[in-house]
Amino acid sequence: MSSLVVIGAQWGDEGKGKLVDYLTVNADLVVRFQGGNNAGHTLVVNGETTKLSLVPSGVLHSKTKCAIGAGVVINPEVFLSEVNKLKEAGVAVDPSRLVIDGRAHLILPYHVAVDQAREEKKGDKKIGTTGRGIGPAYEDAAARCGVQLSELRDLPRLLQRLEGVIAERNLYINKVLGVDKTVTLSEVEGVLKRVAPLILPFMADVSYLVHEASLREEKIVFEGAQGTLLDKNFGTIPFVTSSHTIAGAVSTGVGVSPKIVGHVLGVAKAYSTRVGSGPFPSEIFGELADKLRTVGGEFGTVTGRSRRIGWFDAVGMRYAARVNGITSLALTKLDVLSNIPKIKVCVGYNGITDEGLFLNNLENIEPNYIELDGWEGDISKAQKLHHLPQTAQVYLSSLEELCGIPISMISVGAERDATIFSNQASFIKGFIQ
Ligand code: IMP
Repeated sequence: MSSLVVIGAQWGDEGKGKLVDYLTVNADLVVRFQGGNNAGHTLVVNGETTKLSLVPSGVLHSKTKCAIGAGVVINPEVFLSEVNKLKEAGVAVDPSRLVIDGRAHLILPYHVAVDQAREEKKGDKKIGTTGRGIGPAYEDAAARCGVQLSELRDLPRLLQRLEGVIAERNLYINKVLGVDKTVTLSEVEGVLKRVAPLILPFMADVSYLVHEASLREEKIVFEGAQGTLLDKNFGTIPFVTSSHTIAGAVSTGVGVSPKIVGHVLGVAKAYSTRVGSGPFPSEIFGELADKLRTVGGEFGTVTGRSRRIGWFDAVGMRYAARVNGITSLALTKLDVLSNIPKIKVCVGYNGITDEGLFLNNLENIEPNYIELDGWEGDISKAQKLHHLPQTAQVYLSSLEELCGIPISMISVGAERDATIFSNQASFIKGFIQ
């Protein structure tokens, strides 16, 4: 089968953007299926950095078509500004190669206002959301009062419906949350009138397009956002995002059969990071955490926040392997771990190694570690597994054994070329040819 899904196997920010960019070199189609502009994908090609949050990461390959499925929440102004930035950079992004499903829900100013007011009210109990209105937009979709892209075709009718919705949101912000912020109907009307003529040409039936592409045996990459441990059902609730981030979300987020996915590529960093609040069993602090944060550039693409740092968590990874059915793992940022004498890997919590622990409260648990030898020097030029120092190779094989999944790709730098394939990469190699 010629399709693969790329999903985050940790708490997001695993470096999926770089991999999707790499894997779409010869792909026909790349499809986003969940999340919104809470995601941030950084691509570095020939020294040029491109940051995207909604437009799929394969956009830099002119022959690859890009689609955004119904499961994604779209801030229309953000989408249009990304399109403009890409155009300015000389990338072709017209509706002939970039489309959004008409069923996708929109993020409007009152969603952003609710998200931010709620976090303000929660104080130190906040989730640490990206403040982009993601949760409130998904809530409206579930409550059947959201706004779908296709509704922009009849603005008078939509505005009539929104009058009551906006009044309710303002009451909630002012009276329940006690925050002094009001979003007016005319403000929303202004946004909708401005964006409708610009975004509607991008509207399509992505479910149908992807189905047809798969019948033609085209190469399709499904691009996940965030990570498994932020999934709204299977993550560390309540410190999660509001969508399903696991591989199964391809089906519900695009409107295609789950049988469409041929290979589930999990992406994980060689260590762990997390942005925002919530349990993080293998978290580390102090000098070493600061060093990894600086060397790894661990600051959010979307919010600029410092990321929390931790050792690789094999318990979490076994859990991610199970709930996603990960076929192989792409391990990123191995170069960031260079020049650390001893590297730890979390193998259990409170002496228990069962990954079913992710059902429990992880706040007050004690991580158990094994310690492996580190390596010295710059590994970013390594092209083959055997170019890596022996101890780095042992680190990789230990992770494979501890997590029970093969590592097919290893990323040793931000550039496209700084990627090593293992002998477990036959599907992936065939896919990019
Ligand atoms: P929301 O998705 O903005 O509602 O934020 C909910 C939680 O998910 C917060 O802890 C965010 O920091 C986290 N989050 C959302 N998107 C990303 C991402 O792309 N990478 C990493 N963390 C994310």
